[in-house]
Parts: sequence; structure tokens; C-alpha cells
Amino acid sequence: MPRCDIIHGFPILPPRMPDTIPVLTIDGPSGSGKGTISRLVARRLDWHYLDSGALYRAIGVAAGWADLDLDDAGALVRCTFDTEIGFQEPEDGDLRVIVNGHDATDELRTETAGAAASAIAAIPEVRAALKDRQRAFRRPPGLVADGRDMGTVIFPDAPYKVFLTASAEERAERRYKQLKDKGVSVTMDGLLREILARDARDASRTVAPLRPAIDAVHIDTTGLGIEAVVGRVLAVVAP
Ligand code: DC
Repeated sequence: MPRCDIIHGFPILPPRMPDTIPVLTIDGPSGSGKGTISRLVARRLDWHYLDSGALYRAIGVAAGWADLDLDDAGALVRCTFDTEIGFQEPEDGDLRVIVNGHDATDELRTETAGAAASAIAAIPEVRAALKDRQRAFRRPPGLVADGRDMGTVIFPDAPYKVFLTASAEERAERRYKQLKDKGVSVTMDGLLREILARDARDASRTVAPLRPAIDAVHIDTTGLGIEAVVGRVLAVVAP
């Protein structure tokens, strides 16, 4: 049976769960492998999974549908409150993201959605509006939370924190392969430029910039296979 959590931006807050529920935060720059690794680790642990980037991307996609100007912070904050985001996880398939009733999974993965998300994510009111929505994912038996500020801002008390990195070249290469497999035409140079620009924007914004929590375990995934990284991350939870 697919599980579907509807998250509405309007602040009807869910009951606060006790903070004893374990959380593993996995933060890092785009292309560091966070998404793939986090999903696999969540599956192995049988914990819930939060793809926080998908929330920002969903707002970016909804803003695009409404033809909003990415410089109009007021309109983007309203859009955050008005956008309904749901996650569906079929037993044997990838996580689907439903935005305002439409399956936006494929659109969410585009560089356009990523760039819009990165711009929107720099608006403090948007981040504030999504804070409690993200914390609501902390449910028994545990949560794997993937993002940029999971260990620093959203779950600072998480008992397990990982910061994943990889060289910009390797990240661009991984993205290139993914997009090529989907038939999307891109150049390595263009992707590398976009990745570096997004890194710089995510790391330099004043609110919740991309940075490792002081208590995070750093894992450089350059040259490592998926299983090797999953093993290292699982070792953080059960050394
Ligand atoms: O992880 P991702 O590539 O799907 O994230 C898309 C953008 O959303 C990213 O450039 C920055 C922003 N983001 C963020 O600011 N904080 C998060 N916790 C997750 C994503």
C-alpha cells in the first residue's frame, strides 16, 4: 500500500513527538550522493526518510507553474504556504512527489527546479515555514533526514550526523550520467558550472548555509561505490 503524507504549508502543527526518536542527518552539497545513500540507509534501518530538498524543489516547481518571479520574496512565501506536497512510496518503486495534486517527480529532478529551489531556499521566511513540516517527519522507529541543514538547524539534537562530500568534478560526472540516461542533453562544462554556482549560493546564504554540523562525521565519497558509502554511514549508527 503506498504511503502518502500530505504536507500543507499552512501552519496546522502536528503533535510534537518526543525527541528520543533517533534521527540520522545526512547533509552535503548537490551530487554528493545524499539522495541515493539516504534512501538506501533508511531502507536498511527500516526508518522513515525525509528528502528536504524535494520540499524546496516542489515550491520551485509550483512557483514556476504560477509564473512567479524568483526575486519576489513575498509571492514565494505565499506560494510556500499555499503549496500542497505529498510523498508516495510504492513498495517496489521510487519515491513519487505530488505537488498540488500533480505527480511532479520528474520535473523536480531538472536543473531548472534545482536552481529555483536554491534561490527560494535563501529566503528566511520560506525556511521558517518549512521547519515544523520537516520536524513532523520524526516518527518512530527513526528518521533519515537528507538535506543541507538537517544536522545544524532542523535536527541539531540528532544523535547521528553525517556530512557527505565528493569532488565537484565527480559530482558533475554523476549528474551527467543520470541526465544522459534520461535522454536529457547537457554538457559536462555546463553542469560543472551550475554545480559550483549552486554550491557557492547554498554555502554563502545568510540563513542556514550549507556547512557541516560540528559533531558530523565527514565522508568523502569521491571514488567510492554506493555500497561502500552505505556501509560507512550505517557504521555511524551502529559502530
Ligand atoms: O538536495 P537538492 O539538490 O534536492 O536541493 C535543492 C536545493 O534546495 C538546494 O540547492 C538547496 C536547497 N535546500 C536547502 O536549502 N536546504 C535543504 N535542507 C535542502 C535543500
